[in-house]
Amino acid sequence: MREAILLVGGQGTRLRPLTIATPKPMLEVAGVPVTVHQIERLRSAGIERVILGTSYRADVFAEGLGDGSDLGVEILYAVEDEPLGTGGAIRHAADLLVSGPNDPVAVLNGDVLSGVDYAALIAGHIAADAAVTLHLTRVPDPRRYGLVPTDPHGRVLEFREKPTTPEEIVTDQINAGCYIFRRSVIDHIPSGRVVSVERETFPALLAADELVRGVVDDAYWLDLGTPQDFVRGSADLVLGHAPWPGHDPVDALVLDGAVVDSSARLTGGSCVGRGASVGRNAQVSGSVLLDGAQVGAGVRVSSSVVGAGAVIEDGAIVVDAVIGDRARIKAGNELCAGARVWPDVILGPTSVRFSSDV
Ligand code: GDD
Ligand code: MG
Repeated sequence: MREAILLVGGQGTRLRPLTIATPKPMLEVAGVPVTVHQIERLRSAGIERVILGTSYRADVFAEGLGDGSDLGVEILYAVEDEPLGTGGAIRHAADLLVSGPNDPVAVLNGDVLSGVDYAALIAGHIAADAAVTLHLTRVPDPRRYGLVPTDPHGRVLEFREKPTTPEEIVTDQINAGCYIFRRSVIDHIPSGRVVSVERETFPALLAADELVRGVVDDAYWLDLGTPQDFVRGSADLVLGHAPWPGHDPVDALVLDGAVVDSSARLTGGSCVGRGASVGRNAQVSGSVLLDGAQVGAGVRVSSSVVGAGAVIEDGAIVVDAVIGDRARIKAGNELCAGARVWPDVILGPTSVRFSSDV
């Protein structure tokens, strides 16, 4: 029985206000929760049992995913009363594993879209008899991530979580948030306290001279932690840039029950949620309209998320913004460059601009 642990207990602070009611991994990209995208790819790689390490808004996962039978896997829930950090969450979830001490267990950060070949990662891990195998990816600006330099044989040399000074940026290889653990290594993580796998567990394994491997590839990879990356991830799925088995790439995805006026233009991988509406001559590009959102006539929405049931009145402009659930943006509004509107707020005519935008 192949098993995986998904780390889905973070607060998703950078995606507020979307994450006030819905934990980040349950937010929908291209109409499907991030967690479901991950589980579908894990299942294709032979994973049959998935343990969700939850903390923040744990109830939302169980309501949405149940026992996993709809997804063809068995789902179990390990709920932390207080968040235990990434390592603590893995240790806590391990109580529900049935794998033997030498079996491989996949562990995924719950906010990543990735095209990595999980089956190959597991096979390589077993062949090398590693303590842990990490998927690594290259990014132009690694500062927001964990840096993981390796030697020419792929042996991890060091972990530098979120480097702050230029001297610390020793590589463009980063931790892609996907690990294959030898089960017994998880059992050695201290239980009952906060542990960071990146800052504590991995460095300790290196200090003990355990084999920690890093596998770099060019597969699609995106952490959905910021609003810009969240809308980009959704658009990449719709456009077919990100892996989504069975999906035919389109310019825009219109989900069940949505009504789009024939004169409206939907582009850039936009997704129009269930029961949402888009009015006459509206332009929606590279954006996510969640279920029941209403976009009025002549509205322009670009690189933004419009929350469930939110209303953008005729002629308003929403660019690089996040509009909370059920908020109402009155006609005449122009929201740009990182504007965030909290749920249920009614915004009268105004223009919100930021210094970077003037
Ligand atoms: N159960 C549980 N409990 N899950 C947690 C907790 C916790 O206390 N804290 C964080 N998580 C989950 C989050 O929900 C998320 O899915 C994952 O762990 C990673 O947390 P993030 O908050 O998204 O971390 P990050 O993006 O800043 O950095 C991590 O991911 C990068 C790649 O995306 C690190 O692992 C970096 O090293 C890595 O490069
Ligand atoms: Mg993240």
